[in-house]
Amino acid sequence: MSKIDLYFNVTKVQIKDCYYLQDKGNITFTELLYLMGGNTERSILFDIKMNDKTVIIYSSVDGHTLKICNKIKDQLLQSNPNIELFSIDDFKEDVTNYDKLIIGASIRYGVHNKIVIDFINSHKKKLDSIKTAFFSVNLVARKSEKSNPATNPYVIKFFKTIDWTPTIVEVFAGKLDYKKYPFFDRIMIQFIMWITKGPTNINTEIEYTNWEKVKKFGMQLGNM
Ligand SMILES: Cc1cc2nc3c(=O)[nH]c(=O)nc-3n(C[C@H](O)[C@H](O)[C@H](O)COP(=O)(O)O)c2cc1C
Repeated sequence: MSKIDLYFNVTKVQIKDCYYLQDKGNITFTELLYLMGGNTERSILFDIKMNDKTVIIYSSVDGHTLKICNKIKDQLLQSNPNIELFSIDDFKEDVTNYDKLIIGASIRYGVHNKIVIDFINSHKKKLDSIKTAFFSVNLVARKSEKSNPATNPYVIKFFKTIDWTPTIVEVFAGKLDYKKYPFFDRIMIQFIMWITKGPTNINTEIEYTNWEKVKKFGMQLGNM
């Protein structure tokens, strides 16, 4: 729970013995005071939950992980205004300023960016004191048999080499866009695709991401 929050989520109001649901959603402190002062009944109890403060941190090279993060951010913003988004390179805040921290990172040549691993290692204790989630974005996850954290080789390897157990872990299939890649990268990805029976035509641009799965993950994050 945050120390300073200007928004409150009011879902229940009790007047005398009578409970009734008054879904006010997110209201500001001023609105809350107005709501309390404006009622003349003697005993008023508000079921008030302060909004969690959430930060989403991404490591993205071609912008697809960032796109997924933005989808999640927009989804979470519908019920909580306290959502922040940072590139891992720019994140300099204290982890414990947040109730929830989500890291999204893409795979390049078999690994997540080293900065992600360094960040987790150097913030391990603080990360363990709040709710956390991690998701990986890679092309191998386009195959159904490698599309969940227990079967995706990069996620399995990642958690074997790192001492961190997030509250939620997920994996999403990424984007293939040959035209965006420099020559060497294109040849390499074409080769990997050829081996794994994927598309090799250089005009290919495919988003393999299952957006319904992203939405479900977003819902899990909201309830985490
Ligand atoms: C140079 C390069 C190397 C990649 N290496 C892998 C890989 O080893 N395994 C894999 O599953 N996907 C690999 N990918 C696919 C990316 O993980 C995928 O395109 C993802 O959507 C990229 O996300 P980003 O735009 O956030 O960096 C690679 C992509 C590129 C361009």
